[in-house]
Amino acid sequence: MNITVVGTGYVGLVTGACFSDWGHNVLCVDNDENKVKMLKQLQMPIYEDGLEELVKRNVAAGRLHFTSSIAEGVKFAEVIFIAVGTPPGYRGAANLSYVEQVGREVAEHMTDYKLLVEKSTVPVNTHEQLKRTVSKYLRADIPFDVASNPEFLKEGSAIEDAYNPDRIVIGVESVRAEKLLQEIYKPIVEKTKCSLLVMNPASAELTKHASNSFLAMKISFINAVARVCELADADVEQVAQGMGLDSRIGPKFLRAGVGYGGSCFPKDVDAFIQIADHLGYNFELLKEVQRVNKTQREHVMQKIQRELWVIQDKVVAILGLAFKPGTDDVRESPSLYFVPQLSEARAKLRLWDPVAEERFREQFPSEKYFSDPIEAATGADLLLILTDWPEVKSLDLDKLKSVMNCPVIIDGRNVFDPKLVRAKGFTYHSVGRE
Ligand SMILES: NC(=O)c1ccc[n+]([C@@H]2O[C@H](COP(=O)([O-])OP(=O)(O)OC[C@H]3O[C@@H](n4cnc5c(N)ncnc54)[C@H](O)[C@@H]3O)[C@@H](O)[C@H]2O)c1
Repeated sequence: MNITVVGTGYVGLVTGACFSDWGHNVLCVDNDENKVKMLKQLQMPIYEDGLEELVKRNVAAGRLHFTSSIAEGVKFAEVIFIAVGTPPGYRGAANLSYVEQVGREVAEHMTDYKLLVEKSTVPVNTHEQLKRTVSKYLRADIPFDVASNPEFLKEGSAIEDAYNPDRIVIGVESVRAEKLLQEIYKPIVEKTKCSLLVMNPASAELTKHASNSFLAMKISFINAVARVCELADADVEQVAQGMGLDSRIGPKFLRAGVGYGGSCFPKDVDAFIQIADHLGYNFELLKEVQRVNKTQREHVMQKIQRELWVIQDKVVAILGLAFKPGTDDVRESPSLYFVPQLSEARAKLRLWDPVAEERFREQFPSEKYFSDPIEAATGADLLLILTDWPEVKSLDLDKLKSVMNCPVIIDGRNVFDPKLVRAKGFTYHSVGRE
């Protein structure tokens, strides 16, 4: 089937590449000319494991194409996926201007039936607004459908997730739309036997916000438990293990740390609170999830403060700038909190990240960056771990100690075994394991 995907970011590019790998003909549209130019030259604008190979393979097979022309995109396919950003807007509500723009542009170029599919994460009932927009800007009486097909991929394992989905959710209002989406997902449903849930668009839209908010809640829950552990001389890792083996709870997203970040959880929790409020429900539970997440960073900052006493002129090495391993995404990353805080306090920062350096540098061009974690730690009075990259987990602790000015580690991701690190002579603070 011919498919157009509008937006070639973390979601659109992965989705488009996977659709083409499943045998569909895909045209990816982006209004960022530079991105399209890079993609045409087979250069990846984002880092995601396996993406480059996937794109190259399907471009070579003639199934994957790129353009900056929405007119071409509309002409190319009956089904148009909208995968543009929905960043935080006014008072945390989702900014839907990019989605609306695509709706308008598609309508202006439509000459026959189209199915517009919301792949972007949008507040419940956005499909109604999108339908209104398309109707308003259509130049003739042309039939169309709007469907919701939220994306559940995780950056860092996005391709693997697309190939092994826990479930596929589609929200449709017509048999035609359902059939088209069933056909698109047929290869992967047949292969993996995963559930394809068909529901109305409002339920599909809400499933995404509810899922992300629930996961964020799990993280804040274990971080709150970690705070109690610190006060009670308990170990949060052991508590989480004891909890996670209960099949009703499960072990995932029970890792205490410096709090959640990234382009999804913070904005989706915020947007869910806002849309619930707009609809007349005060989602206090999620407001608390946000508060715990915010105070978690502040709590780790207090540990740094206590250790260093005077921050000014202290050398602080930070390992990890990406919001999690496996991605170069720094949106809402904890590093965006700690770097300005420590800079303002006039610490001398030495930063390291294996893939997110370039993106981080765009915002902090004058900081010092290093290509090796040991090099970054050289001469440091304190080492702060913000991302549990494999390179951090496998650090040679003896070497690390020998290069640091003071062997102090503040571990925001509970990477090391406290007993082992302390036995090596480090002062070590982690989360929920004091
Ligand atoms: N990143 C994730 O892990 C993830 C996971 C699930 C869902 N989502 C959701 O998917 C959506 C996209 O997220 P992302 O991380 O891929 O965003 P992104 O910012 O990486 O990519 C968005 C792309 O859309 C393009 N764009 C914007 N307006 C356009 C227009 N009018 N025409 C053509 N292209 C346009 C931008 O140039 C950009 O390349 C968001 O709603 C997000 O919440 C993201």
